[in-house]
Formats: sequence, C-alpha cells, structure tokens
Amino acid sequence: MIKIEEYMDIKDYSTLKIGGQFRYFAVISNKEELPSFYAIAYDERKYKNIPIFVLGGGSNIVFSDGVLKVITLKIEIKSFEIINETSEYIDIKVGAGENWDNFVRKTVNMNLVGIEALSFIPGTVGASPVQNIGAYGSEVKDTIQEVEVFDIEKREFSKIYNKDCKFGYRDSIFKNEAKGRYIITAVTYRLNKSLPTIPKYPGVAKYFEDMEIVSPTLSQIRDAIIYIRKEKLPDPRVSPNAGSFFKNPIVLNAVADKIKIDFPEAKFFPVDENHIKVPAGWLIENSGLKGKSFGSVSVYDKNALVLVNTANATFEDIIKTRNEIIKIVKDKFDIELQQEPEIL
Ligand code: EPU
Repeated sequence: MIKIEEYMDIKDYSTLKIGGQFRYFAVISNKEELPSFYAIAYDERKYKNIPIFVLGGGSNIVFSDGVLKVITLKIEIKSFEIINETSEYIDIKVGAGENWDNFVRKTVNMNLVGIEALSFIPGTVGASPVQNIGAYGSEVKDTIQEVEVFDIEKREFSKIYNKDCKFGYRDSIFKNEAKGRYIITAVTYRLNKSLPTIPKYPGVAKYFEDMEIVSPTLSQIRDAIIYIRKEKLPDPRVSPNAGSFFKNPIVLNAVADKIKIDFPEAKFFPVDENHIKVPAGWLIENSGLKGKSFGSVSVYDKNALVLVNTANATFEDIIKTRNEIIKIVKDKFDIELQQEPEIL
C-alpha cells in the first residue's frame, strides 16, 4: 500500500536548496505500484484534479515557495538488467530511480563505451532522456534505445522508441507535448564494446595533451571528465546550485559578427551555415557579472553559467537575479538568454 504524505519540505529534494512544501508526496520504489497509486489518486476525492509531479534527483529544477498543490512522486525504481548482447554492443535496461553517475561508473568498469563523457552529472537515470543530458561532446540520446513509461492517460505501461522521443538540445517530447502524460520507469541504453576515444571537446583534449596520453582507457576518460567538471561546477552539497542556469543561445551569424567587432578574440561555435552558438557563460562573464553577488544569489566565480544560492535564497530571489542577468546581457549583446532548469 502506498503511503501518501502531506506537506513535505522541498528544500532537501532540491540541489538549489529552495522551495516550500509539496502538498502531497509519495515514494514509488517498484513500477508495479503505479497502477494502484493511480487508482487511489484518481478515485479518492481529496486528490482529484491535483496534478502529479514526477521528481528525480531535483538537480535541474527551481521550486517555488509556499505549498505547491501537486502530488509529488519520488521515483526510486532500481534495477539493472542486461537484455541483449552481441559481439559489438550490450543493451542495458536501467530503473528510472538509479543514480545516473552510479550507472555511468558501472558501465565504465564493464568497459562499455558511450556515456563516459556524461560522468558525474547529478540526477537520476529517469531524468536523462527528459532533458537529453549532454556534456563534453556527448548527448545521451545517442545511446538511448527506448524509454519504458507508465502512460497515465491509458493507465498502462508502454515503450517510447528513440526516434519518437524528439530529442534536441536539452529537449525531448517529455518536456513538451508529452509533459505530464508519462512516468518514466526505465531506460534502455545501447553501449559499445569498441575502443574508447577522447571526447571531442577542447578542454578534454587539452587535459590528455598535458598528461601526454594518446589513447586513454575508459576510466582515464571518466577521471578526466570528473576532474574538469569539478573545476567548473560547484558541489551542490557545499554551494547549492542547479548546474547551468541558462541555455547556450543559438543566434544568426550576423548577431555574432556584431559582437566580434568589439570582441575579436571571442570563440563561438558554428551550428549550421546560418547559425552559431554563443556560450551563455561567455555572455554573462563579458557583461561583467562573473562572481557578482545579487544578495543571496551569486554568479559562480569559476563559471558564470551557474547561479549559487549563498544564503537561503527564496524563489523570488532566484527569479529576480535571473531576470536581472537576462536584462543586462540583452542590453549589452542584444541576445535574450533562456533559463535552462525547469520551474515548478
Ligand atoms: N565561458 C566563459 N565564461 C564562463 C563560462 C564559460 O567565457 O564563465 C566560455 C568558455 O570559455 C567556453 C564556452 O564558454 O569557451 C563554453 O564553456 P564550457 O565548455 O564550460 O561549457 P558551457 O557551455 O558553459 C555546457 C553545458 C554544461 C556541460 C558543459 C560541458 C549547457 C547549458 N551547459 O556548458 O551542462 O557540462 O557544456 O559540455 O549546455 C548543465 O546542463 O547543467 C551543464 C552543466
């Protein structure tokens, strides 16, 4: 029988350490509990018309203050199952509640190639397809085979294949048209038995050049990624944060050309013939905001893309700071930044 708790404090479920209370809260540790949970939630009057919110690691979300009128489901479904193996690859089906980095560590130890560059990203396996997590030249979409879901509308389990997930940069069907429709219960990844290659990313290449390593092992690649991440991203247990707070904007070449007049040294990244990616961190830093404190919220001094909650910030403090940064960057560069984490 599932226990539905009331008025659960949110802060401990948020790596940014903000938020009020969830009106209702339940932990799901076995996918078979979902149908009976829905039977209760939809049939008992007091839960009627209260939206369900699925919580993973709480590392990419900004929670509001006060009582959030939702039934939060904390997904703790754990499993790890090899479902298919050939001489070239292995398909592994993993429970949505598994810690993402524990899963990466395990596959690196098994010498499987594919997600090593995604080492040390906080959060859960179930969250990985939602925002198509990406880092150091890899995106998780390139390894996902299918996503197992509980379809809330039909109240049955189903599978969504990679091609139907509509993956994009930090984007998928789960953030858009399918939002609120599914609960992700497991994800199947295809990982390769091939030799690892150095992630195509300037900082990683430089790390191995400095170490004079030409063909690193998979664990050396994982170690490099962890080292580089630690340099640029604050540990949420020490400095509460939600990772990158803004998306890297993709703009028309002409917009970037205009910036280059004043900043000829700036390094931007072509996306296609007409578009170029301008790092949000660069824009914020060159607006003079790196390390700047906005009361209880600061722009991280080693990486301007990260906002840190330095003194029990409220939701409003975060949003005010966000808006101020967006405005200053817009005034200076005529580019409007977009928030990266979700808001609830
Ligand atoms: N930059 C600056 N100043 C800063 C920060 C960055 O000039 O304060 C410049 C860097 O010098 C570099 C460029 O911006 O030329 C890109 O920086 P970096 O390689 O550190 O990556 P990022 O664009 O800041 C993205 C992801 C990260 C991911 C890294 C590594 C987004 C929104 N962020 O950051 O993802 O770890 O690349 O691949 O795409 C996250 O999503 O939470 C996250 C941490």
